[in-house]
Amino acid sequence: MKRLRTLLTGALGLALATAGFLMAPPQQEAAASDNGLSVRPAMGWSSWSFVRRWPTEAKMKAQADALVSSGLKDHGYVYINLDDFYQKCDSNGFVVDQYGRWAVDEAKFPSGIKALADYIHSKGLKFGFYVTPGIAKNAVTRNTPIEGTSYRAKDIADTSRQEKNYNCKNMYYIDYSKPGSQEFVNSWARQFASWGVDYLKIDGVGSHDIPDVRAWDKALRASGRPINYALSNNLAIADAPTWRQLANSWRTQGDVECYCGSGPNGSGFPLTTWDKVTSRFTSAANWQQYAGPGGWNDLDSLEIGNGDQVGLTADQRRSHMTLWAMAASPLLLGTDLTALTATDKAMLTNDRLIAVNQDGVAAKRIVNSSPKQVWSKREAGGDYIVALFNTGTSGNQTVSVNWSQVGFSGAAAVTDLWSGQSGGTVNGSYSVTLRPGETRLIRATPQSGTTVRYEAENASYIAGSTVDTDHGGFSGTGFVNTPNAAGAYVEWTVESATARDAALTIRYANGTTAGRPMDVSVNGTVVSAGRAFNGTGAWTTWADSSLTVPLKAGANTVRVTATTANGAPNLDCIDRG
Ligand code: GCU
Repeated sequence: MKRLRTLLTGALGLALATAGFLMAPPQQEAAASDNGLSVRPAMGWSSWSFVRRWPTEAKMKAQADALVSSGLKDHGYVYINLDDFYQKCDSNGFVVDQYGRWAVDEAKFPSGIKALADYIHSKGLKFGFYVTPGIAKNAVTRNTPIEGTSYRAKDIADTSRQEKNYNCKNMYYIDYSKPGSQEFVNSWARQFASWGVDYLKIDGVGSHDIPDVRAWDKALRASGRPINYALSNNLAIADAPTWRQLANSWRTQGDVECYCGSGPNGSGFPLTTWDKVTSRFTSAANWQQYAGPGGWNDLDSLEIGNGDQVGLTADQRRSHMTLWAMAASPLLLGTDLTALTATDKAMLTNDRLIAVNQDGVAAKRIVNSSPKQVWSKREAGGDYIVALFNTGTSGNQTVSVNWSQVGFSGAAAVTDLWSGQSGGTVNGSYSVTLRPGETRLIRATPQSGTTVRYEAENASYIAGSTVDTDHGGFSGTGFVNTPNAAGAYVEWTVESATARDAALTIRYANGTTAGRPMDVSVNGTVVSAGRAFNGTGAWTTWADSSLTVPLKAGANTVRVTATTANGAPNLDCIDRG
């Protein structure tokens, strides 16, 4: 994580560091990729949903033109991603170039990929491209040389196994124990870099392809060009720490497309169904902990742009975008940008929604009572974003949430983010009646005098700590159990609108009879030395220790540090008054 922190410069990096995003989040067993890319989720367009198996130079240029002329580019949508079916097949699979890499179909791309990328770049956009793991059978049959080496395709192919591929197929596994294997992938990445690729989707990836994912990561870095690295699809959550370490995004499920259109292979409208969208809620909740700057859970394309014909009502489309924004998923449109409807353009260019997507925080699901769901996240500035959903297809639902579930108490100023209208000051809880498929997305700004809760499990803490749930009565999703040693600590980032003295309550349990004193420090200065955290009678008996601390305006660090070998008590949360 340290390297990522140093790579980030300027205001954004500072804001991130201050917000605590770059302090090893506890749940993330591995750091995010340190390739310095995708500090925020990617935004743009991909050819797969609408253009599908028939991409051409002309169609790609038309979509790039439309991304600019529609004004979407000015709202941050900058990637134009060419997906599968740019290649040429013969009866043995992919036709390859002199170094065994996929040949581009000149009938579809007469000027070649570099010219297309140049065109896209000339419009101030970025170009995305596509590949799958392995080496083509035709490369092996021809035993093509590996560029810049004395190795050949036969030296690195494992012809006993074929990789998953959705197009020409006939892709052999690469045996990465063989010399020349990394060099082959390097040569492919070098070619993409020389063409001007800014984003690479590697598709058909499963856990058995981790060697390929690693090789492509190395190759992209070695290419010298910054290339946002995206994995697809339906990746195993068990390997999430690996995806997170190696790539900038990973598809958490299969395709959002329904393949139920009237065209060949189910292409054309509709592009998706409400079921395909709602099936993403649970995976977004399960994968939440792995998202953060540099690595995002990709929920797949955003099928908004062409009105109801995409397969979703306007309410459902707003809910679709709301979930993607809350989950901090890449926003890659799948629709036909040359035929945007006014309603959908207004949705896609709603900067309040885009800001929620780009705030760098993936929301948690806090109510899951089908068809009612509530999601929330706390942004760096201290605001809470809350989304209330009725995912059903019939009947209105009243969906409610208590501010205490969201993470604070008292009153908050509420803004409806879809409409931009103020919802006034709301005390205690928030409730809304929603049509089937409808969503309410609000920004809640706690008012002064409110108490804000910061869970220990969302803080940073000394290595070797665990987030445990084995002693009940904790708030949030667990408590932090630090190693029993002097120096063990938990550190929170606590915001304050103004410089002031604030009430701070530390919630803890100590099931032993020995004291577990800790220093409490604020912004590096000890404000309560060797403060007593005596036995509470049981590990399930939680007690409060309250003090007043000086806060500055903005972000403050509050750290509690064990001063004896007994270590710290179990720590649940702190409340800032
Ligand atoms: C027990 C208890 C833990 C606690 C630990 C300790 O193992 O189950 O929750 O953290 O003691 O002494 O710190």
